[in-house]
Amino acid sequence: MSEQRAIRVAQIGVGKNGAAFTRAYKTTAPMNLVAICDVNESRARTVAAEHGVDRVYTNFREMLDREQLDLVSVHTPDHLHVEPAVEALNRGKHLFCEKPLGNNLDDCRRIVEAYRRVAKQGVKAMCGHVLRFNPVFVEVKRRIDAGELGKLFYLEGDYIHDLRWQKGWNLEAEVPMIGGGCHPIDIMQWWAGPIAEVQAMSNHLAFPEMKEDDCAVAILKFASGAIGKCTSAYAPSGPMPKLYNLSAYGTKATVVRDQFAPRGKEEWSPLPVAQVEGHPYEPEVVDLADAIQNNRPPRATVEDGARAIAVAVAIQQSVREGRVVKVESV
Ligand SMILES: NC(=O)c1ccc[n+]([C@@H]2O[C@H](COP(=O)([O-])OP(=O)(O)OC[C@H]3O[C@@H](n4cnc5c(N)ncnc54)[C@H](O)[C@@H]3O)[C@@H](O)[C@H]2O)c1
Repeated sequence: MSEQRAIRVAQIGVGKNGAAFTRAYKTTAPMNLVAICDVNESRARTVAAEHGVDRVYTNFREMLDREQLDLVSVHTPDHLHVEPAVEALNRGKHLFCEKPLGNNLDDCRRIVEAYRRVAKQGVKAMCGHVLRFNPVFVEVKRRIDAGELGKLFYLEGDYIHDLRWQKGWNLEAEVPMIGGGCHPIDIMQWWAGPIAEVQAMSNHLAFPEMKEDDCAVAILKFASGAIGKCTSAYAPSGPMPKLYNLSAYGTKATVVRDQFAPRGKEEWSPLPVAQVEGHPYEPEVVDLADAIQNNRPPRATVEDGARAIAVAVAIQQSVREGRVVKVESV
């Protein structure tokens, strides 16, 4: 990364995810975290004190009016991304917005349209698709792009994670195929191109405290002709596996999680990359800083985020209507 001036950052929402990003901003050299906003003032003050951030707000518009900022980083609950994200872009600020970009397609379109209005000025807008920074999935992408898997004909991507400890807005407003499913949907589209149509079913048996169905499964048809399957389930028993089930089957080779098997070789070999535990956010912050300083798109844009939600929303519609649904373009 070239030596350039610091990027002045403010965060909106410093709950569990936001506070983890506070750490990442404080440890990524070109980022200068100048202000924090959270409607929960004591939470904002605690996080600010812990990380040596001077200025604290409870109203994000007031913060955007008062602070000289380059980048606004949004970590509010899923259904509350749109207002701060659009306000930041309308003021010409670079944006980081957590996944899911929005809880519905209207919110996503508002963010994407606000971004497109300022993109020519060099504004960057990233969506927090952290799995694009997992070395295993990056290596699979490299092998697919190099032709090592041949033509992809089947993909699988699941978000199966015991989230029964969640409370508050997660129970009321989170939609598992949107909030969780957007992770594997984004990776499958990153690997195999756009998903064109879906058919899905769901149930509500394992996590009745959630307002939305807690388990959904969809079959997918990609524009390329490949087919696939995506499950989102929030109440499985047992520990979460180290890697998501993300698998790609091609005419020349198969990848199942981090295991690779070329045609004609009857054994699996592990992909030669480091395993990452959990969700380290630093690589996302480093990528965004480099994108801003070198005027290139971040690895996952808000347009990518909207395309993932377009698929998840089509899956939800298919559940309701019991039919194949075409994915809308964004
Ligand atoms: N990329 C990932 O892997 C990942 C992991 C966890 C969470 N997330 C996403 O991060 C977001 C936050 O999730 P979380 O688990 O930190 O939730 P959380 O409830 O712990 O934190 C949300 C915070 O936003 C604050 N807030 C709400 N409305 C606000 C407003 N208008 N202005 C300022 N602050 C406001 C709340 O007071 C709270 O402190 C969600 O969209 C979630 O899906 C992403």
